[in-house]
Amino acid sequence: MARTLILDPSRQALAGRMSAARAQTDELFSILQPRALYERPIPERHRLIFYLGHLEAFDWNLIARRAFGIEPFHAAFDKLFAFGIDPIGGGLPDEPASDWPDAAAVRSYNQRVRAIVDECLAGGRAPLEGADLETTFHMAIEHRLMHAETLAYLFHQLPLDTKIPAAGAPVPVLAGAPRLREAPIPEGDATLGRSREEPGFGWDNEFEELRVRVPAFSIDSHKVTNGRFLDFMRDGGYERRDLWSDAAWEWKNREGVKHPQFWLERDGAWLYRGMFAETPLPLDAPVYASHAEASAFARWSGRALPTEPQFHRAAFGTPEGGEREYPWGSEAPSAKHGNFDLSRWDPTPIGAFPAGDSAFGVSELVGNGWEWTSSVFGPFPGFRPHPDYEGYSANFFDGEHFVQKGGSPRTAACMLRRSFRNWFQPHYRYVYAGFRTAGPQS
Ligand SMILES: [Fe+2]
Repeated sequence: MARTLILDPSRQALAGRMSAARAQTDELFSILQPRALYERPIPERHRLIFYLGHLEAFDWNLIARRAFGIEPFHAAFDKLFAFGIDPIGGGLPDEPASDWPDAAAVRSYNQRVRAIVDECLAGGRAPLEGADLETTFHMAIEHRLMHAETLAYLFHQLPLDTKIPAAGAPVPVLAGAPRLREAPIPEGDATLGRSREEPGFGWDNEFEELRVRVPAFSIDSHKVTNGRFLDFMRDGGYERRDLWSDAAWEWKNREGVKHPQFWLERDGAWLYRGMFAETPLPLDAPVYASHAEASAFARWSGRALPTEPQFHRAAFGTPEGGEREYPWGSEAPSAKHGNFDLSRWDPTPIGAFPAGDSAFGVSELVGNGWEWTSSVFGPFPGFRPHPDYEGYSANFFDGEHFVQKGGSPRTAACMLRRSFRNWFQPHYRYVYAGFRTAGPQS
């Protein structure tokens, strides 16, 4: 007789979220022609087949093995697919595709992992004593959704004929060009991070809460567009030594970087390399660029990238002195607030979602592209690595990564929370990340 499982509501909600997250990553893999699975679209990263196994191996190692103590059925895959690569220094990976297992074997491993993880989620297996299941399941879900984004930008770099176009939400049409200005932000407090008493899930680097006094400053009302970045390029921005740090200049010359990664020059015209098509460069959409390129632009314009506290102040502060949960208030993120939650594959024109403006009238601080800050990624006072994922953040507290805030078209809504932080190396060009500039008030 089949056993009837009684699910408590939070377990049921987590099971629902897990299956929605799996649907997202399954859908993502379905845009690949089968041959593309063994490609390595970004030289510093694994071949794509790794990620097909990684999502399930991560769930296996975290949930089945660590929280439930279940014996492995495929220890070799659990290990092979356990960890990705952060491209720090050293040589590039160069193993042949033939080193990797057959996709069918990986898919069958995945299926079996899912069945066991589902039993764990449904209460059909007994966890080990002391297991914090709520946190474990949240970690697995957000880990998967983060990969739904990082995989999208990996797939973005593939040749177009290796992808099967998928639909996205329509691009909103603007009544007119938005008015660009430098929004004045008065002196006030910004709350970074979150308290351990606050309900809900957070990654280790989001703790503890940190209140920071931020002096008055001004910030661009909108993200820097491809059009403005083109002005920088036409003004010789990539050739002016004074705009680049020593490390950035050396990197730019060594790699031959002459324009943003998402741009393409053909017959004297600039094109945008979209997920499924090349289009004339959308001058009114945010530029996606590396931290090094963003910093050079900021210097060229006589300004700087905002710090992490400045970003918080512009996004969540209010003229009355309080702070908001989201730039627009406390309403849960929805389609009217911005271009996020995996509803589109590419950026939309700036200013298309006025309902998402912050209390200071600053546009799109969440969605349509992460935003680089000038803040080096580091722990807040009281930081403790999570014992189930020790290296999640701590491996990157090396002074070589910068904080990004906000979110991109491919960022799931749950990670748009105020305390969420993203981080990358300054020369990494593939992320859906742009920027805006900040400076003194005029
Ligand atoms: Fe991962």
